[in-house]
Amino acid sequence: MFEFAEKVLLVTGAASGIGRATAEYFFKCGASVFLADLNSNVVAELAAKLDPTGSRVASMKYDAGHSTDAKSVVDACVSRFGEIDFLVPCAGIYDENLIENISDEQWLRTMSVNLNGVFYIVRQAIPVMSDGGAIVNMASQAAHLGGSITHGHYGATKGAILAFTRTLAKELGPRIRANAVSPGSIETPMISRNIATRGEEIVSRTPLRRLGKPEEIASVIAFLCSDAASFVTGETILVNGGAYMG
Ligand SMILES: NC(=O)c1ccc[n+]([C@@H]2O[C@H](COP(=O)([O-])OP(=O)(O)OC[C@H]3O[C@@H](n4cnc5c(N)ncnc54)[C@H](O)[C@@H]3O)[C@@H](O)[C@H]2O)c1
Repeated sequence: MFEFAEKVLLVTGAASGIGRATAEYFFKCGASVFLADLNSNVVAELAAKLDPTGSRVASMKYDAGHSTDAKSVVDACVSRFGEIDFLVPCAGIYDENLIENISDEQWLRTMSVNLNGVFYIVRQAIPVMSDGGAIVNMASQAAHLGGSITHGHYGATKGAILAFTRTLAKELGPRIRANAVSPGSIETPMISRNIATRGEEIVSRTPLRRLGKPEEIASVIAFLCSDAASFVTGETILVNGGAYMG
């Protein structure tokens, strides 16, 4: 466990999976946590469950694809907690289709949430983030593995996130560090279909012989935000049980 007392985390996609686990992990480490998600009921319930007093957790409805929502969330977080030390944009979608069948609408929806959404919230947060702060973006094994069949649009956004993160590291240093995490197959609703159809195959080609847990991504995100990673920026950490070694 890391010590994040007096620190503030803004996490998107906080209703489910990795974003939710990250919110829970940072809260246990003492941080104040602002939860943003399209699913406002679930983040409101999580906020009430984590901190019934409401002193260290707040939530808000947020659509990653709208730059105006990024502004509302960043403003609300600063107004509620006074600062933003850590930004973790986890909101994402994982549609499935062969490239030749992807419609303009499907392509643009994935770009909108997975790529534009990260840009909007990062751009909005940069001026108000504390000195010594950290951004951790969510990439994916799909950005490294040499393609991801039926997820061409998804993989394209995640490859872009790697390049975007490296530029962020150069532009924001030394004030703010920016890194990425590339999860392998992590047991969340996002990949429930993959697990159902080829879970055994995924596990059999993973040296650690299992799927990952969202908490195992949250702990790496926490490491990247912590002083233990004070000289790490522009880096991507693969967390995949050895399924892909970069
Ligand atoms: N689960 C995995 O195996 C895996 C692997 C690699 C990368 N990732 C990445 O990790 C991140 C989190 O994924 P997860 O597995 O926790 O997924 P998840 O489906 O469990 O959670 C995604 C969350 O994003 C929210 N969301 C979706 N669209 C939104 C929008 N337009 N605006 C705001 N919120 C929105 C959903 O409501 C949900 O709470 C994503 O960026 C994903 O691409 C996941």
